[in-house]
Amino acid sequence: MKSPTLLLALTILAGAVQAAPFADGKPAHGKALHNQDCVACHARRYGGDGSIMYTRQDHTIKNPTSLAQRINTCNANLGNKLFPEDEADIGAYLNQTYYKFR
Ligand code: HEC
Repeated sequence: MKSPTLLLALTILAGAVQAAPFADGKPAHGKALHNQDCVACHARRYGGDGSIMYTRQDHTIKNPTSLAQRINTCNANLGNKLFPEDEADIGAYLNQTYYKFR
């Protein structure tokens, strides 16, 4: 009983189940951590509040996976101070504010 309607319904359902990037992250907590731990170093490099890091023309992050990896790499700069949940919270904040991956 493979009807096109059934296939269409399943496709839509699968799309709905697909979670948004960093769906479990708490952006408000991520913002607080980011401002405390991440901004100073980026600002030293790029000036201002460092946010140009995320929006400059040749920025390196093109998808949620590379964003998560970069947050992890930068966390290593901090001596792995942050827990994985913290990284997810920062991911949610950066994605919501700058990257806007869906
Ligand atoms: C010791 C310095 C330092 C610290 C601390 C640091 N970063 Fe970075 N970050 C860098 C450098 C250097 C780059 C790469 C710049 C480049 O590609 O030109 C970078 C790049 C990034 C990028 C990629 C931006 C883009 O779109 O190209 C993200 C995202 C990022 N950092 C997130 C974080 C987060 C989140 C934290 C805090 C947990 C953090 N960083 C802490 C130095 C740091």
